[in-house]
Amino acid sequence: MGEPDEVCDDAVLDLSGESVGEEHDSSSPFFVSKKAAAVLKHEILKQYVVPFASKVGRYAPDGRVVYLDSYAGPGRYEDGTPGSPALILESAARVAAFRQLDCYFVERGRKSFRSLSQLVTEAQELGLAAHALQGRAERHLDSVLNRAEGAPLFAFLDPFGLGLSFDALTRQIFGTRNRRGTTGRLATEVLLNFNANAVRRIGGLLTSKKDSRNKPATLSAMDTACGGTWWRDVYLASSDSLEAVARITNGFIERVRTAVGAGAAAIDVRNRAHHQVAYHLVLFSRHRDGLWLFGEAASLAQVEWRRAQLPPPNDEMLWSPVDTFDDEEIERAAKWVRKIRRNIENLLQERESFTVDDHQVEIMAGVLGEAREMHIRAAVKELYRAGKTNCNGVGPVRKLRIDAAAGEQRR
Ligand SMILES: C[S@@+](CC[C@H](N)C(=O)[O-])C[C@H]1O[C@@H](n2cnc3c(N)ncnc32)[C@H](O)[C@@H]1O
Repeated sequence: MGEPDEVCDDAVLDLSGESVGEEHDSSSPFFVSKKAAAVLKHEILKQYVVPFASKVGRYAPDGRVVYLDSYAGPGRYEDGTPGSPALILESAARVAAFRQLDCYFVERGRKSFRSLSQLVTEAQELGLAAHALQGRAERHLDSVLNRAEGAPLFAFLDPFGLGLSFDALTRQIFGTRNRRGTTGRLATEVLLNFNANAVRRIGGLLTSKKDSRNKPATLSAMDTACGGTWWRDVYLASSDSLEAVARITNGFIERVRTAVGAGAAAIDVRNRAHHQVAYHLVLFSRHRDGLWLFGEAASLAQVEWRRAQLPPPNDEMLWSPVDTFDDEEIERAAKWVRKIRRNIENLLQERESFTVDDHQVEIMAGVLGEAREMHIRAAVKELYRAGKTNCNGVGPVRKLRIDAAAGEQRR
């Protein structure tokens, strides 16, 4: 499937701020095979949704958990590689013995929808709860949310350009109107693609001298997605597009967080390590478990993303990056462990003891989304061996209580 950047400028110049649909459809070369950025997002989905459904489904009536993919695409790439719908249906099959993952896939493009429908029919024949809905995401939102009443909900919002409005995200999906009841209200999670290319291109219109017919509507579509015009001032006050993307993405995340009372975790997604960010994948969750789980999923997904950068095997090459991949991964992990160790030492300067669970952000500062729990454990064990803490690093990582060993001075 194509990534937003490479699709077409119309993707953000369309009046609604959405992709134009058919040109991204299954006849497009972008739907032929998967790019590295999609490897990352799909791996996160794969890693995240099964534990999410297993965990939150425990409190759900009949173990039913609703999954919504509002910008579903054709379901599979032309070469047969699973897109997000096929991946989620595989997850649904994996948990079917103890959870019902009730899946709703929305797709606007006609050709993509045909292919999606076929996939969904195959899933239904296997006894899975799957539904393909044709049309715009906004049009189907209320009815899917009604179906999700009283059940945990995971929504994946993955448009090519701008997605749902800020109000639809904060009031409809997270709001109380359709998400009443303790179980439903608490277990609402959204994984969202916040498009950096859209920020760059639409922001560029603010200073562009060219008069385009679509300009006012495109700018106002961005206002609707961001929840106001605030992003315009931020863009104009930024020294370059790199800074603008970072500040507008953070501004958006903070506004959503405040509006819905959730935590958030974000990772940047690129097609190649040296490329600019194509989009940020952001998880909004009201539960600490969700943010930890996302950290684990993102870290594992990054390994697959790095692997996807490797060139195909070539016997004529004397040396290939494939040969050193594992060693580089080990080196990378050692760096993360050193960083986490320093973060823990800093925390120990400020407090006598703390549990890992209460300090995810500080402990993972600088390596969040890259390192995972096993690296925290390794750092704690190193500190223990160095006589800096009494915590030996054994047991569930999040429950570890880390304290300073006797004689360790605080500043
Ligand atoms: C990035 S692709 C989806 C990829 C898919 N989530 C995956 O990971 O395999 C975005 C899809 O959204 C569709 N689309 C664009 N605007 C839409 C809208 N308003 N409502 C629903 N689908 C839309 C496009 O036709 C395209 O197939």
